[in-house]
Amino acid sequence: MSRTTTKISPFKAHIDQFQADLNQKAGRTTAEVQELVEGKKLYKLSSNENVLGPSPKALEAIRKSLANLHEYAYRTDDPFREALSAHFEGELTPDQFVTANSGLEIIDMLARGFLEPGLECILSNPTFHVYEIFSQLNGAKVVNVPLLEGEFELDVEGILDAINDNTRLIFVTNPNNPTGTMIPRETMDRLVNNLPPHVILLHDEVYWHFADQSCFPFAKDYVLEGKNVIGLHSFSKAYGLAGMRAGYAFCTPRIADYLQKLRRPFFISAMSVEGAIAALGDVEHVEATQNLMKAEKPFLYAAFDELGIRYWESHTNFILFKSPIAVDELVNKMLAEGVMIRSGANNGAPGHIRVTVGTHEGNVAFVEGMKKVLG
Ligand SMILES: Cc1ncc(COP(=O)(O)O)c(C=O)c1O
Repeated sequence: MSRTTTKISPFKAHIDQFQADLNQKAGRTTAEVQELVEGKKLYKLSSNENVLGPSPKALEAIRKSLANLHEYAYRTDDPFREALSAHFEGELTPDQFVTANSGLEIIDMLARGFLEPGLECILSNPTFHVYEIFSQLNGAKVVNVPLLEGEFELDVEGILDAINDNTRLIFVTNPNNPTGTMIPRETMDRLVNNLPPHVILLHDEVYWHFADQSCFPFAKDYVLEGKNVIGLHSFSKAYGLAGMRAGYAFCTPRIADYLQKLRRPFFISAMSVEGAIAALGDVEHVEATQNLMKAEKPFLYAAFDELGIRYWESHTNFILFKSPIAVDELVNKMLAEGVMIRSGANNGAPGHIRVTVGTHEGNVAFVEGMKKVLG
């Protein structure tokens, strides 16, 4: 017989009260919308994927790994972390990496590891909506210090002012999703060099391959200085492996050792490890992707100029623009033209639309569609 007399809820209040539908916020797949456009060729320019497809070297490695799928292959992720250390030319050691089945999973681990009710994180909207979700799911208060209006610059002083004894995490996306803009090195230096020791900064650089490398503040350099900065990379963007699910963080050995405790046994999929290691060596695919972005962005900028549409120069594989008509109307009418684009609203930019930079054919379809829809 239970000795409990009062009514006790089995549900954690902050999870129970959480309203956002995570799947609803994620972009639609081609399979979901194909039937809406009845046999028309569909260009998916809505989820910042690699329009050249997956890294061929990764595909080959994944194919080879299939025969061993009956095995619990990766009790540890040592081979993956050693490959990452080699990829960083030994500047970071294997004990400075934390691997996971995607960048999202790393963000989830950070929220679980560093946040709880009573603690706080800081982010700067418009930005990737997932930081807010995982922080709230762990009961933390989310403090928004918005990007500065106009050019979406980081409000460094505002962030430093918002830090208090309860602050544990700062999320910075650089280059940023959904704006495509980049925070230059001197701005990040001002932030990183003024952080108190109880605050950890995530530098989410999953789009770094597309940034202006001459002034990009690589998290690696802060980590080498021993700063409380965690870099985040993903295999979903330049490597074209969004469906495979692999990502990793790099940081000081102290932070990495702490995060390792959050990994379940046999945490990472064997296909992810083997595909990711092969992708790291697929320089040709990454360069082809970078070159396509460099070649195609000016084409889209010119089209926006011609249409009189405000856009932001992008350091990513997508471009944000101000919608000249109601966002949903433009998104739906473009879908009818066979081009999937995405409202910025979920990522804090209502009234704006994000378009992935496609192949030239896809970009022409986008521009033609826009001209038709906007008359
Ligand atoms: C800024 C940012 N960070 C992290 C991710 C997560 O990437 P993934 O979970 O596919 O590795 C994304 C995906 O779109 C992103 O835009």
